[in-house]
Amino acid sequence: MKIVYYSASGNTEKMANLIAEGIANGGKNAEVINVSNANADIFDNEEIVILGCPAMGDEVLEENEFEPFIEEISSKISGKKVALFGSYGWGDGQWMRDWQERMESLGCTLIDDGLIIQYEPEDNSSECIELGMTIAKA
Ligand SMILES: Cc1cc2nc3c(=O)[nH]c(=O)nc-3n(C[C@H](O)[C@H](O)[C@H](O)COP(=O)(O)O)c2cc1C
Repeated sequence: MKIVYYSASGNTEKMANLIAEGIANGGKNAEVINVSNANADIFDNEEIVILGCPAMGDEVLEENEFEPFIEEISSKISGKKVALFGSYGWGDGQWMRDWQERMESLGCTLIDDGLIIQYEPEDNSSECIELGMTIAKA
């Protein structure tokens, strides 16, 4: 499995690593990839698409790297299972609700509700690890 994330200050990256740990606990293997090292083919051979991005701008995905990446993969991920996650600060999670709807409108099935954590996840965040275990069973 592959987890592609954007993270400016490390919080979403920490979530990605914990989710990968949960996936490993569930008996599968996940590679954690910074979006700057991901190309548009990255999920072509995957049944499951795992994406992480914090709330940025005004309740949107990060616009320079992550948004263009989502645009690039959008035409290729219909029918796949998707798991979303990200860190946020002062908002109420609107960016994640919008992102979930967008993925569903592309024909993706959400494995679970997008996991949002305010600022830094705890060191052994059970929410992140449990999401990983859910993904491993999906
Ligand atoms: C430029 C910028 C814009 C942001 N916009 C929002 C926002 O609209 N809503 C929100 O809840 N948090 C917002 N935040 C807070 C980040 O989502 C929060 O700091 C998060 O933990 C960053 O995750 P990261 O460490 O993975 O980069 C913003 C942060 C930055 C730097």
